[in-house]
Amino acid sequence: MLNLTTNTPEQTIAMGKQLAEFLKPGDVIALSGNLGAGKTTLVKGIAQGMGINEKKVNSPSYVLIREYKGKNIQLFHCDLYRLNNVEQISFLGIEDYFDREGVFVIEWAKRAGDLLPDEYLDINIDLLGEEKRGFRLKARGDKYQRLLNKFKNLIK
Ligand SMILES: Nc1ncnc2c1ncn2[C@@H]1O[C@H](COP(=O)(O)OP(=O)(O)O)[C@@H](O)[C@H]1O
Ligand SMILES: [Mg+2]
Repeated sequence: MLNLTTNTPEQTIAMGKQLAEFLKPGDVIALSGNLGAGKTTLVKGIAQGMGINEKKVNSPSYVLIREYKGKNIQLFHCDLYRLNNVEQISFLGIEDYFDREGVFVIEWAKRAGDLLPDEYLDINIDLLGEEKRGFRLKARGDKYQRLLNKFKNLIK
């Protein structure tokens, strides 16, 4: 478990960028937090760190899953906000993405319930003020614990 706070959107982008350095194909990041918490902003930072133009990254609410070609790795970004049940989410085919060679980031991930893989990086964002955000990063599984440990060392 790792708790971090940011005080501006730029800091959240910088954090995403740093996190991206440790991401490998097949990694799954589950984001949760209210509307406006900063989930998409964090994804923009991750995208930037992967060599993707962050301006292209928006909440994929209509397209549902977007694919971006990074410098070395692909990024898959989905937003489950508009989906209300696990059947719809399963129909969207998110399970197919867990096996694909890319980094998969899911907004409103809790809506996927049991469809989520056994192991993933769980990031919850709390709105703490106008521009203050609290990030709680939790590793689900050893691979993500190692990732978190590396990330901890970087930001110490
Ligand atoms: N520290 C911060 N981190 C991230 N976003 C912030 C922060 N402070 C203010 N914001 C603003 O909050 C909003 C977050 O929006 P967004 O990332 O789309 O949230 P979500 O995807 O969680 O709904 C943006 O308008 C952003 O500029
Ligand atoms: Mg969003």
